[in-house]
Amino acid sequence: MVKMLSTFAALVLLVTCQCSAQAASPAPAGGGSTPAAAPPSNASQEYLEAHNQARAEVGVGPLQWSPSLAKSASLTARLQRDKHNCSFANLANSKYGGNQLWAGGFAMTPRAAVETWVAEKKFYTYENNSCAPDHRCGVYTQVVWKKSAELGCAAAACPKDQSSLTICFYNPPGNVVGEKPY
Ligand SMILES: *[C@@H]1O[C@H](CO)[C@@H](O)[C@H](O)[C@H]1NC(C)=O
Ligand SMILES: *[C@@H]1O[C@H](CO)[C@@H](O)[C@H](O)[C@H]1NC(C)=O
Ligand SMILES: *[C@@H]1O[C@H](CO)[C@@H](O)[C@H](O)[C@H]1NC(C)=O
Repeated sequence: MVKMLSTFAALVLLVTCQCSAQAASPAPAGGGSTPAAAPPSNASQEYLEAHNQARAEVGVGPLQWSPSLAKSASLTARLQRDKHNCSFANLANSKYGGNQLWAGGFAMTPRAAVETWVAEKKFYTYENNSCAPDHRCGVYTQVVWKKSAELGCAAAACPKDQSSLTICFYNPPGNVVGEKPY
């Protein structure tokens, strides 16, 4: 599907989300204080800022960066790269919310990845909590999901066509059926 476009459209973006969490599982109970985490790296900072900007635009508080979610995202992205040809991970049984982006034909940056999800905002109607046909508002509603508190993201560069797979995890997961994002 990607290949036949490549003559005319060098840029290809595909998005998906874990869009049907049935119920938010309770956040892991306190568990004491985690040891002081290393300051988020440059890329982490970009993922976080792009999320928190979209959240602020609709009056939702910021996410915190989670090194352990970022590690899970990194392991998942690398597994998809190494074993599954950089296809989307199946996150249906994940305890986290997940957004994914496959981009081909150019180098994806953390900010541009998040902005691709946020671009679905224009297809989302808050009043009736619905999405225009053929769009994936779930990637947007996960970004701004108020009850999600923690974020961790990573990307894997894929061998073919300067492509990449970006994955973000959210805890607690968003897109709970029947709830509005905020
Ligand atoms: C790191 O930060 C600089 C300055 O903000 C920015 O120009 C650059 O693109 C960032 N690099 C990555 C990999 O995010
Ligand atoms: C892997 O993905 C690329 C790009 O989508 C495709 O051209 C290639 O045929 C795939 N390889 C396998 C083994 O599925
Ligand atoms: C939700 O509202 C929008 C804007 O008024 C409308 O276009 C859309 O059809 C509605 N969707 C549903 C499922 O009611």
